[in-house]
Amino acid sequence: MGEFVVRGGRRLNGAVRINGAKNASLPIMAASLLTTRPVIIRDIPLIRDVLVMIEVLRSLGAKVEHHDRTLVIDTSHVQQYRVPDALMQEMRASVFVMGPLLARLGRAEIVQPGGCAIGDRPIDLHLRGFEALGAKVSGNPSGTVVAADHLVGADIHLTFPSVGATENLIMAAALAHGETRIRNAAMEPEVVDLAQFLERMGVTVRGAGTPEIRVIGRGDLGGADHTVIPDRIETATFALAVAATGGTVQIDNCEPDHLPGLWGYLSEIGCDIVQDNDSVTLIAPDAYAPHSLTVHTGPYPGFATDIQAQFMALLLKVPGIHVVSERVFESRLGHAAEFRRLGAHIVADQRVAIVYGGEVMYAGRVRAQDLRAGAALVIAGLQPSGETFIANREVIERGYENLDGRLRGLGADIISV
Ligand code: UD1
Repeated sequence: MGEFVVRGGRRLNGAVRINGAKNASLPIMAASLLTTRPVIIRDIPLIRDVLVMIEVLRSLGAKVEHHDRTLVIDTSHVQQYRVPDALMQEMRASVFVMGPLLARLGRAEIVQPGGCAIGDRPIDLHLRGFEALGAKVSGNPSGTVVAADHLVGADIHLTFPSVGATENLIMAAALAHGETRIRNAAMEPEVVDLAQFLERMGVTVRGAGTPEIRVIGRGDLGGADHTVIPDRIETATFALAVAATGGTVQIDNCEPDHLPGLWGYLSEIGCDIVQDNDSVTLIAPDAYAPHSLTVHTGPYPGFATDIQAQFMALLLKVPGIHVVSERVFESRLGHAAEFRRLGAHIVADQRVAIVYGGEVMYAGRVRAQDLRAGAALVIAGLQPSGETFIANREVIERGYENLDGRLRGLGADIISV
């Protein structure tokens, strides 16, 4: 297990380029299974989760050529409908192949997906949606099977706007006969990006980015050439690192509008934000005046759960009593305990944390428990002047490409060992 070693107390300055979005790349890669024609996907991030998805596609029989940030995927020979258990357990996003495999081959089999340890993450909404499209779902000791001779468009009402379920159902509906309506659909930008990819393949998708999505399936899809959107979580992570250390950083190749809420909070506490079409410059002070912030995460356009931990790392520096409530996942505040090892004063249960900001932080030894919590520990470690060791850096590298190198480029003292 590797570590990041951070010596804090330095301001961050300069420019950083944001990579393509992990959470857009993964479903789009899975959607390549819907067509027998080659697809090209550009600006994919070079991260562990993308490499695992390449392995998943190859294990199913796809040819995947990987040239730097561009993938060329040919799934014309895919016959396999079961993802190898080890790959499935390594990454939860492997569940995205279920919808495409069901639609294309009439069957998909998986074991319970693995991935980040952020609460109990069932896939019941995915499965109920597949059933509505005409699939039979069955469980056996070796996993879950979905099967259908053919899929027929249906009205599906999600009881929660799950991102993964919305994406899986759009993909299954793409080859279904007739129209599918997904109500209470997730509105995340990554859903919109997937819809655009499918449209390039010839599927009609209406309403992506709203709570009601309509998909008109077709029997035969074409190829596509698509560039994935910039990673909004990476954008926020760099912005929050700068806000937590002080300094001026220009974040290039990003979509600031994909982060509703974040910029408002940052300007409220005293950061200056200069927003352009595809870049944002953040000018952060060395210290903050007292403020008390309340943040609730929520489905888009709510405050993204994937930046809750990094935001809490910033709050440690802002004098005041802050309330952070997690409303998407049932248990995603484990980083509070790790922050406490660095001197933070936080009282938390499973869903709500009270953060007493502005207390003196220390360097220390902590452990990344999940991807975003790990990035938050890096941000916390950038604050005190001693040496902080963040164990289990591999979990951070699942979703961030060269995080330490890019922070070093901004003046941070961080190495991976
Ligand atoms: C995706 C993102 C993840 C992000 C999350 C919420 C990817 C690869 N991952 O994950 O980074 O944190 O959206 O923005 O895109 N739920 C159910 N039943 C289901 C599905 C979900 O109860 O069938 C629950 C989950 O347990 C969770 C909530 O719904 O409490 C949100 O999950 P969901 O939106 O599905 O997240 P993911 O797609 O797994």
